[in-house]
Amino acid sequence: MPVVEARNIRFSYEDGPEVLTDVSLTVDEGEFVALLGANGAGKTTFAKMLNGILQPDSGTIRIEGEDIIGKKTAELASWVGYCYQNPDHQIFADSVSKELKFGPLNLGVPKDEVERRVLEVLDLVGLSEHANEYPFLLSKGIRQKIAVASILAMRPKIMLIDEPTTGMDLRGSQSIMQLIRKLNEVGHTILIITHDLKIVAEYAQRAVVFKDGGVVFDGQPTALFTQAALLENVLGVATPVYRLVRECDAFWDLPEMATVDQFADWVNRSYKRGA
Ligand SMILES: Nc1ncnc2c1ncn2[C@@H]1O[C@H](COP(=O)(O)OP(=O)(O)OP(=O)(O)O)[C@@H](O)[C@H]1O
Ligand SMILES: [Mg+2]
Repeated sequence: MPVVEARNIRFSYEDGPEVLTDVSLTVDEGEFVALLGANGAGKTTFAKMLNGILQPDSGTIRIEGEDIIGKKTAELASWVGYCYQNPDHQIFADSVSKELKFGPLNLGVPKDEVERRVLEVLDLVGLSEHANEYPFLLSKGIRQKIAVASILAMRPKIMLIDEPTTGMDLRGSQSIMQLIRKLNEVGHTILIITHDLKIVAEYAQRAVVFKDGGVVFDGQPTALFTQAALLENVLGVATPVYRLVRECDAFWDLPEMATVDQFADWVNRSYKRGA
């Protein structure tokens, strides 16, 4: 069942050029989707429309079949949670647990239920030991988790997480991505925005590429990784494996593949077959 259905979305900021000219996107329940595109392509703008932070100039957006145009973020918070690109734009409380309580209390969830939820979410994201600490003294990786946790405390079915790993080292980004995968496994529909194709290859089931106010690719990551022109011209990446696949594609009929390991495996199998 589609949980997100955005059709023909147009949007411009006041006095600015049109950022989104025609975006349509349908996401099914339980999917793990990565939104990609160059800086300024409109990914964050689009995501903010799915939970009411921004309203499109025209087009329709349905969440679980219900039209959300005109609805406010507070009304949508238990359906769609948006984690900001910079967690510090989201965090404001002076302790981690207060930060987590704010959203559900605002939604009118009874206090004892909020206490229960906060303990559960702290445990789920692995932050129990930091419950009483001051968020701004914790690391970027932990602040990102606090941002995710404070959205989770409102129990949205759909989580939009804007650049969860930017500025993090490998361990930090693996840790947050494993958390996001876990959320997906327990039933949350996930949309992440990222510039990191390794993360797309490893975690996402589907990739959607924004360009020129629209969507220029929507499919499996493995299919995206065979499109060298798109990768180079739109996403600005030309890593050796993509180039290798592209060059070899001229004389070998290559299956879709995304990683060096898959390429090596294919060569190995083909060579053995031919030998
Ligand atoms: N509040 C705003 N007011 C005016 N213009 C804005 C505002 N926010 C973003 N823009 C412009 O809208 C366009 C799309 O921005 P958006 O932040 O959605 O892109 P993005 O794809 O998320 O980029 P990035 O990968 O850099 O985060 C850009 O040209 C940006 O400068
Ligand atoms: Mg952005």
